[in-house]
Amino acid sequence: MVKKIGVLTSGGDCAGLNAAIRAITCRAIQTYGWHVVGIHNGTTGLIIRPLDYRHLTIESCNSMMMRSGGTMLGSTNKHDPFNFPDAQGNQTDRSQDFIEGYHELGLDALVGIGGDGSMRVLWHLAQQGNLNLVTIPKTIDNDLGHTESAIGYPTAVEVATEALDRLQPTAASHRRVMILEVMGRDAGHIALSAGIAGGADIILIPEIPYSLDKISHKISSLADLGKTFALIIVAEAVKTEDGEPVVLSREGNRPRYGGVSHYLAEKISESTGAEVRVMVLGHVQRGGQPCAQDRILASAFGVHAVDLIADNKFDRMVAWHNRRVEDVPIADAIKQFQEVDTQGAMVRTARGLGIFLGD
Ligand code: F6P
Repeated sequence: MVKKIGVLTSGGDCAGLNAAIRAITCRAIQTYGWHVVGIHNGTTGLIIRPLDYRHLTIESCNSMMMRSGGTMLGSTNKHDPFNFPDAQGNQTDRSQDFIEGYHELGLDALVGIGGDGSMRVLWHLAQQGNLNLVTIPKTIDNDLGHTESAIGYPTAVEVATEALDRLQPTAASHRRVMILEVMGRDAGHIALSAGIAGGADIILIPEIPYSLDKISHKISSLADLGKTFALIIVAEAVKTEDGEPVVLSREGNRPRYGGVSHYLAEKISESTGAEVRVMVLGHVQRGGQPCAQDRILASAFGVHAVDLIADNKFDRMVAWHNRRVEDVPIADAIKQFQEVDTQGAMVRTARGLGIFLGD
């Protein structure tokens, strides 16, 4: 029986998505002789009419694709099929259109590559329409439960580490306090890992409340030790000292974080007299070439996702665990928000190196 499978990328883009699409295509065509269809712009390609998709072939998925950033299929973190915006700006439930689109295209199964929000939506669609779904975790935030890593996270950490590498000499040359603000939504994984790898003096993450007094004291004590500059890395969702979130805007219930580094800069400059500069790294963390670890993760996830379909195993998310690719129920994965374990290895490592975590 010749199968036809669809693949879509949903939510914020990140490095490694094309590597996953390539792996899915290679495995499905070369090993199983299936047809592969790439759905455009997340779930939107199956909602609108005419359907928006392209056929994926071995030729269209060469190794150049693995090296490229973004997603060749397009993505969106706005078009929720259950609240889909129409031309007038009203929101309607288009879930049934998505389900009919899946059948109209003759799909036997769908591989959804997404983070927690996208995966939740896909899972509800699959439940409602009895669709055959497997998912692949991608998120630079690395906040999904039941997997140790997700596509995009390793590259985001690399980029943030490189930013610290580049900020260090200029901070040292000018004897400044340099604050790097990184993404990660409500989890501090990027800040913590990049802070360790990039030699930060202070790492601030949402999971650990901080004291401005203690931060000032740390900066002064670095000066007492003869260190003429300080590197601080802060996760975007860190709040003000009295617990106010710092947001650029709100889209429904979803805050767009950004700007806490400016708040900290003002406070630190007032209390220490240091010259402080800020860099908000933003979307650079999502773009560019995927690092080797992301290509490996994406390739392993893509192959395993297709093998799950071949075994008729659905409603599963592929996962990285103990050096192995495994799979877990999607329903479990979306239930668990994976914040930084404040007693875990990374926090202990940072503290062990003398990095100040604000508390
Ligand atoms: O979830 C990924 C992420 O990059 C977050 O780290 C960040 O807060 C958010 O998406 C930015 O979203 P947008 O691309 O809509 O600005």
